[in-house]
Amino acid sequence: MPRYLLTAALPYANGPIHIGHLAGCYLPADVFHRYLKAKGEDAILICGTDEHGVAITLQARKEGVTPQELVDKNFKVIHQAFEGLGIVFTHFSRTSREIHHREAQAFFLNLYNKGFLRENTTSQFYDPVAGTFLADRYLVGTCPHCGFDGAYGDQCEKCGTSLSPDELHSPRSVLSGSVPEKRETNNWFLPMDEMLNLPEFARYTERIARWKSNVKGQFNSWVQQGLQPRSMTRDLDWGVKVPLEGAEGKVLYVWFDAPIGYLSATKEYMELQGNPEGWRAYWESEDARLIHFIGKDNIVFHTLIFPMMLAAHGQMVLPWQVPANEFMNLEGRKLSTSRGWAVWLHEYLQDVPGREDELRYTLLCNLPETKDADFSWQDYQLRVNSELVAILGNFVNRVMVLTHKLSNGQCGELPPEDPSTAHGSLSLELASARKEIRLAMEQFRLREAMAGVIHLARLGNRYLADTEPWKLLKTDSEAASRVLRVAAELCAELCIALEPFLPFTSARLGGQLQWQISDQDREGWWNTGLGGAIGSSESRAFYLSNGHRLGEAALLFTPIEDEFIQAQVNKLSPMNDPKPENAPQLENDSKPKNDSQTEAAMKPEVSYDQFAALDLRIATILSAQSVPGADKVLEIKVSLGFEQRTVVSGIAQHFQPEALVGKQVLMLTNLAPRKIRGIVSQGMLLMAENPQGQLVLVGPTDNGILSGDRVS
Ligand code: MF3
Ligand code: ZN
Repeated sequence: MPRYLLTAALPYANGPIHIGHLAGCYLPADVFHRYLKAKGEDAILICGTDEHGVAITLQARKEGVTPQELVDKNFKVIHQAFEGLGIVFTHFSRTSREIHHREAQAFFLNLYNKGFLRENTTSQFYDPVAGTFLADRYLVGTCPHCGFDGAYGDQCEKCGTSLSPDELHSPRSVLSGSVPEKRETNNWFLPMDEMLNLPEFARYTERIARWKSNVKGQFNSWVQQGLQPRSMTRDLDWGVKVPLEGAEGKVLYVWFDAPIGYLSATKEYMELQGNPEGWRAYWESEDARLIHFIGKDNIVFHTLIFPMMLAAHGQMVLPWQVPANEFMNLEGRKLSTSRGWAVWLHEYLQDVPGREDELRYTLLCNLPETKDADFSWQDYQLRVNSELVAILGNFVNRVMVLTHKLSNGQCGELPPEDPSTAHGSLSLELASARKEIRLAMEQFRLREAMAGVIHLARLGNRYLADTEPWKLLKTDSEAASRVLRVAAELCAELCIALEPFLPFTSARLGGQLQWQISDQDREGWWNTGLGGAIGSSESRAFYLSNGHRLGEAALLFTPIEDEFIQAQVNKLSPMNDPKPENAPQLENDSKPKNDSQTEAAMKPEVSYDQFAALDLRIATILSAQSVPGADKVLEIKVSLGFEQRTVVSGIAQHFQPEALVGKQVLMLTNLAPRKIRGIVSQGMLLMAENPQGQLVLVGPTDNGILSGDRVS
């Protein structure tokens, strides 16, 4: 029997989780794990926070805290948010734990002793002002592939390409902004070019033919470009120390240590279970199936580098599948955490407690499985109101209410099988709908599987419309009782089918039905109970018993009001156009766009009159203060010379309030006033984002321009 080792990309502990992360890998991983468990498979899902690398030290520097403080804070926020949304890991660890440092060092030494890590002296970028080597994200420049000017020394986040520092055009230091010089230093390199020929690796590559085309495509293009030895160590002090003599002041490259986190977390879990050798069954066994859930920017590390490391290590399982997703956009624009263009999971959970499945559902319906997709609040509202409320909730509610009306909630007997009746045709349709759900799941098409489950409820509604039990109630109560029993069975079936996708709803539904899914029912449904009519003897597709009493009827979902949607849209970014009506909307079924197109896309043309309608002026900041209870916005008083204004601006994470006082800034003064966090904001301060994602003021400095001067 296969054993499934599922992993979800270890999130960087440099910030909280947003919907892009969820749609990229965490939700699919959770759904797939729950599905495997429901089938009765042996499966574990491993994750944890990625706490090393320059992503962490840079953010800590920005927030003015130590890296340790930063990761301690974010580990908690991330872990809690996952739990809140019902994303359940078998084990959730951290790469800062001692066991991980030990494992990563042992892994490194294993490869070193086999000759797969070769010391080499190279000249690396060095910042003479900051007095340090510029590893990875400390170096920015222009991407040679897509021309993006904020590419990092190790990766361009725009086109997803993995880079080496020398490939960047016009490199600069993030620390001081200075042009770096080259200095010699020793590092240890993985000879990727040679490792392609490791027999284990070569055997593994045969599997890739049946993987998703986006994954296959990236893998092939890497191999075709020709692989170079890649340094697996860095001149940094935050990370796992290189376990060699003469390597003082050096740590493992974060992309070397982080994936080993999957292994160290498995070991930690097994130790906690009192089964310290238990990890071997998942990592060393022939039967193990390693499946990495990741977003597209992680493909090269999970299909090439980590598998090579595993192949070189020996005895280790190599990935069986890597169902990577593309990116999720928000309201037609690329997510941008620095611009506040994101929906944060911990905030959502706080704003709308009890609506976990509404978010899971909307994301599942829009998963970027084959191309970039879009999340919009309007779509969220539509999906909740017209699908969850009107199809699923409505079906269940009608069955509950009618059964109570007829027989105080007591279930009657099932009708005999008869293909010529509505019951007969329902059974046929259900049989094919179940098959499709199961097939979609096997092929990692979670979107379709989710739609398939809602289709079950749709079939239920159609069955009620065909049989009209509300009429039978008065004319033929026995017939009504049979119809409602069939429908109640379908409710139980929905309870099973919903479980991996919408676990909260499934549990609530089970509560209403006063019925608990048994392992046998679950396994039966997901494995074999796919043919047969409801109640047919051979499929055993009935779950309730004659005389079973249903619980109280309650609404599974309530509609989402317009006000809520408007508030969420307004919240998006107080410093951005809140509703980019003119921004290109990415429809789910529109032609795939790559993200560089999305980002570079210009807004539609405007007329001169439209431009002239904007009142742009220079403002001088008089004071700036934080707003209690809102960690993103500042309340800023500005002078326009002839008058003073208050502006609420979402820049708290980018500036210390004191540092703003006295600065001149470009301001849009005739924007309609808007209440933000209870304060009326009378205009908008304009900012630019530098390649590091930091905001900078746009405005003149000391060139004789006065407050209130027009800009045109
Ligand atoms: N922290 C990385 C990211 O967020 C993912 C690391 S995945 C691992 O992109 F395999 F390295 F753990
Ligand atoms: Zn690029």
